[in-house]
Amino acid sequence: MASFQKIFGRKSLVHACAPGRVNLLGEHTDYNDGYVLPTAIPQRTVVEAGYSVDDYHHFYADKLDAYLTCTTEAEETAGFASYVVGCIKVLEHHGHRIAPVSIHVSSTVPIGSGLSSSAALEVAVLRALRELLGLEIDDVRIAQYAQQAEIEYAHVNCGIMDQMASSLADTAHMLFLDTRTLERRLLPLPEGTELIVIDSGVPRTLAGSAYNDRRAECEAAAELLEVKALRDVSNIAQVERLPAPLAQRARHVVSENNRVLEAVDGTIDAVHFGALMNASHASLRDDFMVSTEALDMLVDIMQSHKDVFGARLTGAGFGGACVALSKAGAGLKAAAAIRKSYNRSGQSGDILVPVKASTTKK
Ligand code: GLA
Repeated sequence: MASFQKIFGRKSLVHACAPGRVNLLGEHTDYNDGYVLPTAIPQRTVVEAGYSVDDYHHFYADKLDAYLTCTTEAEETAGFASYVVGCIKVLEHHGHRIAPVSIHVSSTVPIGSGLSSSAALEVAVLRALRELLGLEIDDVRIAQYAQQAEIEYAHVNCGIMDQMASSLADTAHMLFLDTRTLERRLLPLPEGTELIVIDSGVPRTLAGSAYNDRRAECEAAAELLEVKALRDVSNIAQVERLPAPLAQRARHVVSENNRVLEAVDGTIDAVHFGALMNASHASLRDDFMVSTEALDMLVDIMQSHKDVFGARLTGAGFGGACVALSKAGAGLKAAAAIRKSYNRSGQSGDILVPVKASTTKK
């Protein structure tokens, strides 16, 4: 790994980090003003920063071994730099002056697994710049700026879940977030449980996927139902009068919001929580139609394991990782058995959580 010192020939002045996230319930609800329930994963992105010694910004990503230089006027860049430039541009847009900077990125968050590597990068960059420049912006504002960078500079029309999770969640809690009001609570996982996250090995590209189509369908459904957003429908019967496929899409969103609310009412146990995760997967597969054969197979294997309470795809879908709730202490062994069985069909699944301590270090 090439350090900041090695790349830029001097020491960094600040460093900051931000985690990836895994969503437990509340999928494709954030852009419908709904409820989400993500948690941070141990993998994180570390950003070191200092002032540049010339008039250019300099960015280096050690995972990609990619070095990029751009002028402070540059609006469009490619790859990882588009997220970094996006963060700088958004800060400038909000009135902050950003001197030319040198930024070094290292990350253990897998790219393309639906675990928000881009949000982790954006939040870590914004945190590092906040410290370097002494900016007075709080963690919610950081999440909002990160989302703006993603939408305007990475051109992904996402909701706010990933950036809020990366900015405000931790690995010991689930972040229950109302994406309309941004009211939130940190809650413990159901008693006696831990998480398993396995990458299906099937890559997904959010921007190129059906994400934007689904978003448009949800907006069309809300318009026909004469509500501001699908969050405003709580009675599932209302969606049945919509034409196909809007009825199915809306049914997913309305039922998914209800599942999140059921999960956080304070009374449910691991078995009940697991059943909500299973129902969420079925709804994403059958009504929202964002699953794939490989994801369904991995989820089936997870759900059939004796120590698993429930499992589902996580993130936007179309590939990436799946998450399961397992008995506390049984996660590592169960994950190994699940991966083995899944890979027997020629797949290349990878265990991401539980994580061996050494892989979470920078
Ligand atoms: C992606 C987006 C999020 C959210 C999820 C689906 O991760 O970035 O805003 O919409 O998909 O729940």
